Amino acid sequence: MAYRVLLTDALGPEGLARLREQPELEIEARPGLSPAELRDAVRGFHALIIRSGTKITADVLARADALRVIGRAGIGVDNVDVDAATKKGIVVMNTPGGSNVTTAEHAITLLLALARNVPQAAAGVRAGRWEREKWLGTEVCNKVLGIIGLGNIGTIVAERALGLRMKVIAYDPFVTHEVAARLGVELVSLDELYARADFITIHTPLTPETRGLIGRDTIARMRRGVRIVNCARGGIVDEAALAAAIKSGQVAGAALDVLEKEPPPAGHPLLQLEQVICTPHLGASTGEAQVNVAVAIAQQVADFLCRGIIQNAVNVPSLSPEVLRVLRPYLLLAEKLGALQAQLLPEPPVEVTVQASGEVAERELRSLAGDRRRVHVVDARLEQLHPGDRGARPPDDRLPERARGAGAHGHAHDRGRGGGVRRRHGARHQDRRLPHGGGARGLHPDAPQPRRAGRGGARRHAPR
Ligand SMILES: NC(=O)c1ccc[n+]([C@@H]2O[C@H](COP(=O)([O-])OP(=O)(O)OC[C@H]3O[C@@H](n4cnc5c(N)ncnc54)[C@H](O)[C@@H]3O)[C@@H](O)[C@H]2O)c1
Repeated sequence: MAYRVLLTDALGPEGLARLREQPELEIEARPGLSPAELRDAVRGFHALIIRSGTKITADVLARADALRVIGRAGIGVDNVDVDAATKKGIVVMNTPGGSNVTTAEHAITLLLALARNVPQAAAGVRAGRWEREKWLGTEVCNKVLGIIGLGNIGTIVAERALGLRMKVIAYDPFVTHEVAARLGVELVSLDELYARADFITIHTPLTPETRGLIGRDTIARMRRGVRIVNCARGGIVDEAALAAAIKSGQVAGAALDVLEKEPPPAGHPLLQLEQVICTPHLGASTGEAQVNVAVAIAQQVADFLCRGIIQNAVNVPSLSPEVLRVLRPYLLLAEKLGALQAQLLPEPPVEVTVQASGEVAERELRSLAGDRRRVHVVDARLEQLHPGDRGARPPDDRLPERARGAGAHGHAHDRGRGGGVRRRHGARHQDRRLPHGGGARGLHPDAPQPRRAGRGGARRHAPR
């Protein structure tokens, strides 16, 4: 069967070549579509490959009659309505890792540029000014760097900063002291970080918890003269509060690669301040990173369509070919049972409990427990079960070790209704709760598209 793949942002020759190696794929590149054109164009395509320039809304997805996978070349999937895609059983995948080094290097670049006023001084020279006294800098050696968010990029920033002989402290509620200590980083509370850091760099996702994290109240708790770097996402820093704090001298300067509105409107208050450095969302913009993410997403989409392999999905578990081979019949069985249940029940189910025992339960648990990215899977399911819960509780593999359950130590553990996974002690037994319509359908590319029927948006699959 031929699968049709639509590219709506420029992917780069290496990524295109990787797609064209697959005889089963028909590739069509249509960059620069307007939202209305995209809505019409999406019909009949099995895969969409995008970068940050395409917005995949619920409206677009409503017209996507054949779509099985959305591949985002890059990390951020905030331009994709992931919940709407999940409800339609469409896998959303990204390419974490491809631009980590590049983004971390940009954060370090901004940190040093901020410390030594490089862009401002360079602009002065270009304008004919030789301002040696004005741009007196500060060393970073022996200064305290506070990292908020010690994930993939935060970790690389920490390693590089230690090489600059900075003292690195970090706040991340999902990282253990042991993990931080292995990196040479001291894990502290947010308040302690604010009180001690000479420089603060942010590497968290934008979530309801992190939106406005750096605001009037938190800036007031920081050391006077602190310098702030944001290479993560616009919206984590309250820009009006930051501008006021720079004017008052509480913050000595800020370097921002991301802004709440990109590009910023004319007259933006931060851009009026010479202590502020801004780059136009260049964090992931190196030749190396572009090639990495283009090739990675092309391979992932091809693997999914042609071989049923899921990698780096943000809304379903990633499965290796080996595990998928074992699980495939069980997934098909689960799908058929789910389709049957959906037609038998008068109301849409709120929760589905799946029990498995024997080899399959053990295999799947092993494959999931070993995958850090499962955080997204758990989050997506929590969000569907309990709207608003996303990020409210850490997944198993990010819990402090003493709080972890069976997955880590083999103790009986029940995370309750929203926990998603329960495993009984001493038995190869798995009790997994899935949101209605989520999960299993998206796991196999040949699964049928759900059809809407009945009250309250209940979905029923025609038995095959
Ligand atoms: N500027 C760019 O072009 C660019 C490029 C790539 C990534 N990014 C952004 O960088 C950020 C980090 O990316 P990553 O790949 O390292 O992500 P990641 O998921 O590997 O790490 C994020 C870390 O933030 C932590 N975290 C979550 N909520 C937190 C909170 N409330 N307080 C403190 N820590 C919290 C998580 O536990 C995790 O360890 C993301 O926002 C991503 O979108 C920007």
